[in-house]
This record gives sequence, structure tokens and C-alpha cells, in this order.
Amino acid sequence: MTHSRTADAPAVDGRRFRDVLGNFPTSVVAITTTDAGRRPQGMIVGTFTSVSLDPPLVSFLADSSSTTLRTIRAAGRFCANALAGDQERLSRKLATGPAARRFEDTAWQPSSLGSPVLDGVVAWVDCTVEQVVEIGDHQLVVGRVNDLRVESLKSPLLFFRGGYGDYLSSAAVLLDRLVGWDEIGR
Ligand SMILES: Cc1cc2nc3c(=O)[nH]c(=O)nc-3n(C[C@H](O)[C@H](O)[C@H](O)COP(=O)(O)O)c2cc1C
Repeated sequence: MTHSRTADAPAVDGRRFRDVLGNFPTSVVAITTTDAGRRPQGMIVGTFTSVSLDPPLVSFLADSSSTTLRTIRAAGRFCANALAGDQERLSRKLATGPAARRFEDTAWQPSSLGSPVLDGVVAWVDCTVEQVVEIGDHQLVVGRVNDLRVESLKSPLLFFRGGYGDYLSSAAVLLDRLVGWDEIGR
């Protein structure tokens, strides 16, 4: 069934939409590709998710006005890089920097499909574009997984209530308490 906004449906204020949705924590994933001149292009998304195991599919949502989306559609491929807790600066650069300078000072290797795998990430998933579906003011980009790997045991970078944070497992917190690290310095 398709739902559309009807005359009696309440209008949702954009500010409130952002504020409330900001309370749902997300991962911070760098979606990378290369342009016709093999120059790296990329953007940050908080909407990366797995879709299907058989066939192996993943997805993310890109604003329809995204310049990176245009390059991904032309290239027909992208790599999803899960950023690590110590990569906040890189995330800011990829999310807000001018497109031509986003990869300055950032080391990367091409995947077998040619998309950038960034140094220092937690894991990556290399894909070809399977489908692009327009949904509201975004495009759902579905990728077919070509290759994927866990790159390090570093903790991931997270985004919550408009700010970056580091993930701490409850086991690590418990260990800190048992060892007494949290007593030091009090
Ligand atoms: C934590 C975080 C999550 C984001 N998630 C998305 C997302 O899911 N989709 C999207 O289109 N933009 C998202 N953005 C914004 C883009 O990264 C940003 O608009 C970027 O400049 C787009 O670049 P482009 O227009 O060159 O493609 C996010 C930004 C941050 C900081």
C-alpha cells in the first residue's frame, strides 16, 4: 500500500522532524567513489544499512541534490567505509568541505572495483549500484556487494543529537569498573 499525505494528515515541522530524528543514533559512513578522471569523491551518510543477504544488498539514502550521488550514478559503484572513533575530523571534512578538497591529506587504496577504501576505517563494503529509487526528497541507493572486509578492531564513530561520539561497549565499562580505572583521579 502506498501512503501519501492527505488533507487531514498533520503537517510535520522540519525543525521538529530533525530534532526528534536526531535522537536516533546513527553510524557515520563515508560513501566513496571516483569520477571520470579517477579522482576520489565522497560524502558522509548516517543512513547506511544492510538490506538482503541473498542476494547480498546494502543501501543508503542520498539527498537528491547531492553531487556525490551524481558521480556514483555515473560510475555505477561505491564503497561504504565505516569510520572509526578517531576519524571525526575526516568526517567533518567529507561532510562539509568543498568536494574537490575532501580527500586532501587522506590516504586511500582503490578497491577491486576502483572505489576508495579509506585508511584507518573499521570496515568497508564495496558495491556496484543495483538500483536507485526516488523516495521523497532523497534517493535510496541499493548496492550489490562485490567485496567486504573488517579492517580494524577500533571502535566506531557515532552521531547522536547533532554531535559526534565514540562507542563504548558495556563490557568495556564493566572492565573499567572492575579494574578500578574509574576511581583514579577522583
Ligand atoms: C553524521 C552525518 C550524517 C549524514 N547523513 C546523510 C545521509 O544519510 N544522506 C545525505 O544525503 N546526506 C547526509 N549527510 C550530509 C552530507 O554528508 C553532506 O550534505 C555532504 O556535503 C553531501 O555532499 P555532496 O552534495 O557533495 O554529495 C550527513 C552528514 C553528517 C555529518
